[in-house]
Amino acid sequence: MPAVVIVGAQWGDEGKGKITDYLAEGANAVVRYQGGNNAGHTIVVEDTTYKFHLIPSGILHDDTLCFLGSGVVIDAEKLLSEIDSLIEQEVEVDRLRLSDQAHYILPTHKELDISAEAQKGSAKIGTTGRGIGPAYADKISRSGIRLADPAYPEILRTKLEQHFREHKTALEGTEWTVDSVAKYLEDAHERLRPFICSAPHLINDQLEENKRVLFEGAQGTLLDIDHGTYPFVTSSSPTAGGACAASGIGPTEIKLVLGIAKAYATRVGSGPFPTELDDDLGESMRQHGGEFGTTTGRPRRCGWLDLVALRYARRINGLTHIALTKMDVLDHFDSLKVCTAYRINGVETKDFPTDANLMDVIEPVYEDVAGWKSDTTKLKDYQDLPEAARNYVKLIEDFLGIPVAIVSVGPQRKATFTRLPIWDQV
Ligand code: GDP
Ligand code: IMO
Ligand code: MG
Repeated sequence: MPAVVIVGAQWGDEGKGKITDYLAEGANAVVRYQGGNNAGHTIVVEDTTYKFHLIPSGILHDDTLCFLGSGVVIDAEKLLSEIDSLIEQEVEVDRLRLSDQAHYILPTHKELDISAEAQKGSAKIGTTGRGIGPAYADKISRSGIRLADPAYPEILRTKLEQHFREHKTALEGTEWTVDSVAKYLEDAHERLRPFICSAPHLINDQLEENKRVLFEGAQGTLLDIDHGTYPFVTSSSPTAGGACAASGIGPTEIKLVLGIAKAYATRVGSGPFPTELDDDLGESMRQHGGEFGTTTGRPRRCGWLDLVALRYARRINGLTHIALTKMDVLDHFDSLKVCTAYRINGVETKDFPTDANLMDVIEPVYEDVAGWKSDTTKLKDYQDLPEAARNYVKLIEDFLGIPVAIVSVGPQRKATFTRLPIWDQV
């Protein structure tokens, strides 16, 4: 029963999609466990680029079952269009399984998301505007609509009436009605029905049959609703513990937790970012790294690698291994910096603050590191990396006390060096 969890160790967009696709080769099932189409994953295989928001990143492997777990929120229209484009690209979609406990994002949730952001003014979170927060808010206040519900027209209408009553003021002026949302969901259900299942049972069946199951988190540790830089976070738990709660498996099933980290750092949307580079260096990272959001196209904020934040991610997730991505983006820099401590009100610490009010007074303490100034993208093996690049990896391992199992030097599946084969470790 080898269960492996993949989590973003920073603020999202670490390359989780690429690494999930890479490891799905040896997996029987991949479970995307939380979030919705706020996520955006780019996977490049030979000449084809795939962009997924909801579909699990294991879908490109013919024999892999792909689950959207109970903790996911689903925009039916977006899911159907991803399914359609996979069919167009001749990818088999009958391996897709949707938890009947997952919640729908309603069209009205998107309107609520956009109006909540507008009301926050300069304090806005910079959400993706996909209705994620309002869908999770309704779930937590026990007013959500689950994938199972449209099969019961009476129950669906009663729930929708409650939804419109609860959001009466905020939804003044919307063109959506109980009837039109009910029709939208019933039409979606017609097409999604073959994929809807009791996911927690099927996932546990896989584990009991000793199958290899990969749990794929969206977003990243610092966007976690509890452990991220609140309130500039998403509305779910991307951290490793979330994989259990959201998928319906026990924590004892998890044998390995792989944290995906970029060799530097990025963030989209508002919120604190201690090592942010607001200058030409940051711009250079953005251009070389193609740091523009997959979901919204927004330029990503860029900065130096933050080991204090990564150490926090190691603790919060119980990371056992790291996959270090986008090493090649640093090929262009003469010299590098990594943040090895924070100075907060004059005191140096390696602990990422849990009091979010301290985030704005952090002064990062940097160590200078030699750059390698050579093209790593054509290399075939980890040992071919220049010494300075291998020293950079070692510095990360020494600081975190866990091994870097995978190093990635390009978006392509094949631009990946395995130092420790993941499935052999479980
Ligand atoms: P995710 O949300 O964590 O799956 O990451 P995204 O797909 O949103 O963002 C990562 C971006 O970096 C994508 O465009 C990937 O194709 C690309 N990428 C992944 N690994 C590497 C790498 O090692 N080098 C480079 N240059 N690009 C990479
Ligand atoms: P992947 O899976 C990066 C950010 C948004 C915003 C905050 C809240 O591709 O790594 P939300 O719409 O979730 O309510 O927005 O979270 N955010 C992401 N940033 N990558 C993501 O996903 C993100 N999903 C949400 O930009 O700051
Ligand atoms: Mg992304």
